[in-house]
Amino acid sequence: MLPNHEALRLTPHAMGGGYVAPRAGSPSDPLRTAVLISGGGSGLASLLRHQSTKPRSHRTTLVISESTEAGGLDHGRAAGIKTVGIPIPEGPSRRREHEKLIQRELEAEGIELVVLSGYMRILTPEFVSVWKGRLVNIHPSLLPDFPGAHAHRDALEAGVTVSGCTVHLVDEGVDSGHILEQRRVPVLSDDTEKTLQERIKAVEHELYPLALDRLSNGDYSF
Ligand code: GRF
Repeated sequence: MLPNHEALRLTPHAMGGGYVAPRAGSPSDPLRTAVLISGGGSGLASLLRHQSTKPRSHRTTLVISESTEAGGLDHGRAAGIKTVGIPIPEGPSRRREHEKLIQRELEAEGIELVVLSGYMRILTPEFVSVWKGRLVNIHPSLLPDFPGAHAHRDALEAGVTVSGCTVHLVDEGVDSGHILEQRRVPVLSDDTEKTLQERIKAVEHELYPLALDRLSNGDYSF
């Protein structure tokens, strides 16, 4: 019989705010991780590099995009990972139907942790409730500042001299879940959305693999 704290680390368990943490992974039994993308997938590429340099407690076993055209799908394919584009179906309840198709893939692959890495669709509370605590997002600002799809533009318009990036658990709101990691990035006087985005991305690419290491090792307490 395992001591209680060990048992808690090995099985999903309830945390404050309705989050249910993943089991603790290990290099020999890594958390099966799905990465959801919408675009170029530079974050996915950085995660795959991180996972390929040595065994981690998480391993990407599925890549999903809502389009068959997303450039980032190539990173998954090149790594020999199951990679699927799931287009949004037609019909009145297409948002939920789309999520059900995603959920089916996640279950078929035995996924234990889902990472939104530049995934541009807002998930329904129904989907979030299934994954809450095992659903991670990377956002290019210091949340709670500048949530939403235009974080760089909003930061520049606000005239801040420091922005950054946030890795957080997803809840039912938009970019509002429990924060796991944040890192500051300077905003320069001549920054454009593009230059600020690139500078922040470079930091994201270090921060979010590290956050996944910590989450899958059971290092966070909530
Ligand atoms: C990143 O800046 C991330 O913070 C945001 O979307 C961007 C994804 O970029 N959520 P990429 O597709 O990984 O290059």
